[in-house]
Amino acid sequence: MSGSFSGTKILVTGGAGFIGSAFIRLALASEAPVRIVNLDKLTYAGNLENLEPVAGDARYRFVHGDICDAALVGSLFQEFSPDAAVHFAAESHVDRSILAPQPVFETNLRGTFTLLEAARAHGIGRFLHVSTDEVYGSIAAPLEADEKYPLRPSSPYSAAKAGSDLLALSYYTTYRLPVIVTRASNNYGPYQFPEKLIPLTISNAFEGLPLPVYGDGMQVRDWLYVEDHCRAIQSVLEKGRDGEIYNIGGNRSLANLEVVRQILQATAKSADLIQYVADRPGHDRRYSLSSAKTMRETGWRPQTVFEDGLRRTVDWYRANAGWVERVKSGEYQNYYARNYENREARLSRLGER
Ligand code: NAD
Ligand code: DAU
Repeated sequence: MSGSFSGTKILVTGGAGFIGSAFIRLALASEAPVRIVNLDKLTYAGNLENLEPVAGDARYRFVHGDICDAALVGSLFQEFSPDAAVHFAAESHVDRSILAPQPVFETNLRGTFTLLEAARAHGIGRFLHVSTDEVYGSIAAPLEADEKYPLRPSSPYSAAKAGSDLLALSYYTTYRLPVIVTRASNNYGPYQFPEKLIPLTISNAFEGLPLPVYGDGMQVRDWLYVEDHCRAIQSVLEKGRDGEIYNIGGNRSLANLEVVRQILQATAKSADLIQYVADRPGHDRRYSLSSAKTMRETGWRPQTVFEDGLRRTVDWYRANAGWVERVKSGEYQNYYARNYENREARLSRLGER
């Protein structure tokens, strides 16, 4: 298939996470005759509360399972016969991939392979593999990465994403499976797990806790409001071309310290909360994407100005303190201690090896 796509049965993987749940909520927000099956393992990052607004919708069904489970994935393809797959499921956090790389390779590589094999066996109209600008690695100013930019991933997370991108594209080249890869920049918005910079800083600021800033805080990221990302995925799903890669950036590059300062302002907290901590190993200095191809071919544009998106995000976290409290209990505390306590000593030992 190379023209527009109008299928209505969509298999979403990782739909209980931050971006996948936003995609499902958006897809079901209209009366569109779409049907969605959401396959999610409900790892620490998967949360059915994110899908409460659509849980009773007859067009939506949740399946609890692992994308690495070939028998389950095969039976889902057989039974549901999706027109398209939108593959979000991943271990998505760089710091966790540094602390424990194994799950990253299981899900991001083996899981993607399992889905591709099922799609090849059963057929599909479109397989959209959701990926990241991190596969391009750090980009020296003033360059921007377009889709032909070399891949230089730095972390186990981004290396596994780069590998899964190449695997997915090889299924187009070799088997003519109608694969598309999208690569987005840093997302932010409601329902994001508070391990990532923006929700972590917002929730710590509300609690008056230290705001950890890695290194000098001058690393640059391009911020994309999550709904803008989801609209881009819809546009690429409909109008993209098979075998192609589409970058999706927010067109708003900011140093981390500037992001933290804006959050301090929005939460009316003091800059004294900022705590400079040891840098992330292999930390990419700057990401910068050109989304010119996506805009030209699909007509999509990011619509949310960062300051507005950030205000909406802060308001959402303020209004959903119960959600934050529940996701920050239990496992989150263990992760937080592992990543942030004794950080200087732990990472300096790493540097000596
Ligand atoms: P997330 O961590 O919030 O959610 C991941 C979801 O995948 C969770 O619901 C989890 O339960 C599920 N999952 C994990 N392993 C699974 C498995 N083996 N089987 C089934 N489900 C599994 O992630 P996110 O931030 O929503 O990211 C979604 C996708 O977008 C990822 O592929 C990520 O690489 C990509 N991406 C994220 C960003 C970002 O800024 N967050 C930017 C660009 C691309
Ligand atoms: O660029 C897209 C990527 O964005 C996605 O592929 C990843 O799934 C997503 O996690 C995100 O990766 P980052 O590593 O850029 O996001 P994170 O929120 O972890 O960090 C953003 C920046 O903030 C980065 O330079 C590291 C820094 N940081 C992060 C945390 C959690 C801090 O300074 N302090 C922190 O405590």
